[in-house]
Amino acid sequence: DWTMAEFRKTKIAEIRAQVGDGKVICGLSGGVDSAVAAVLIHEAIGEQLTCVFVDHGLMRMNEAEQVVTLFRDHYNIPLVHVDAEDMFLSGLAGLTDPEKKRKFIGGAFIDLFEEEARKIGGADFLAQGTLYPDVIESVSFTGGPSVTIKSHHNVGGLPERMNMQLVEPLRELFKDEVRDLGRELGLPDVFVGRHPFPGPGLAIRIPGEVTKERCDILRKADAIYLDEIRNAGLYDAIWQAFAVLLPVKTVGVMGDARTYDSVCGLRAVTSTDGMTADVYPFDASFLTGCATRIVNEVKGINRVVYDYTSKPPGTIEWE
Ligand code: XMP
Repeated sequence: DWTMAEFRKTKIAEIRAQVGDGKVICGLSGGVDSAVAAVLIHEAIGEQLTCVFVDHGLMRMNEAEQVVTLFRDHYNIPLVHVDAEDMFLSGLAGLTDPEKKRKFIGGAFIDLFEEEARKIGGADFLAQGTLYPDVIESVSFTGGPSVTIKSHHNVGGLPERMNMQLVEPLRELFKDEVRDLGRELGLPDVFVGRHPFPGPGLAIRIPGEVTKERCDILRKADAIYLDEIRNAGLYDAIWQAFAVLLPVKTVGVMGDARTYDSVCGLRAVTSTDGMTADVYPFDASFLTGCATRIVNEVKGINRVVYDYTSKPPGTIEWE
């Protein structure tokens, strides 16, 4: 792609000019954006870059392993793998307000990046895979009043005390352009085609209190749902599909026993930039198939519902 080849060259020059001989820490989230940013920055400044993958325990099934493998084996880019599940889960204990969860998670990320920066004798820059829609949505909602809908934590607003400047080479790009750039940089198609995944991870897909047990339940349901979507050949037609675990228990019957378990919500939308979205119109038989498998295979869930809300008025995530 000619445009992206040009963009790649221009950005590499810009990154070199901005960074000089400084050191950069790049947080990898497991998603496409931060991976593309990291590979691009690595191409520009090589060993001045330290990639940090914080595993907050709020990833999807097998996601952490996939990121580590991509960077270590495919790119041979050194990666610091921080296992921070306990820290995140203990900090989330008792938090139910969506913005409080986001604030805690954003703050914990910064603390960990600072700690990693200290370990390498200080870093001058923090790199992030912020995209154009992230920038807009954190400021105001398209066409609406200028209020924050959700504080996407990978945008601006770094604490004053932090002595690092931001490097955000994807700030002008939309998602489809980031994917083009990712392909241009040689990222595998399956990785580039991944659905977006929010920085706060499963924490914002578990309304109410987040616990390890609820994360494990949700991971299983989500994996089954995505497995069904892939098997039906629908993955690439969908912008984002995921399960949410509701803080509601309902009565059911399994065999000849009464159950009293959680409700799982399924969401799938089409979109071009995440700013507006339409519900993906699955066949009813597809959804009943997913519901059957999830209830049969996931202990802790006995009911499945499908979310028929577009954005607006709904948002894509439930929190
Ligand atoms: P919403 O829910 O605002 O989502 O319609 C739009 C897109 O943004 C993602 N999203 C987030 N990404 N931190 C992120 O990095 C967040 O706090 C966050 N909240 C939502 C969401 O997955 C969708 O792709």
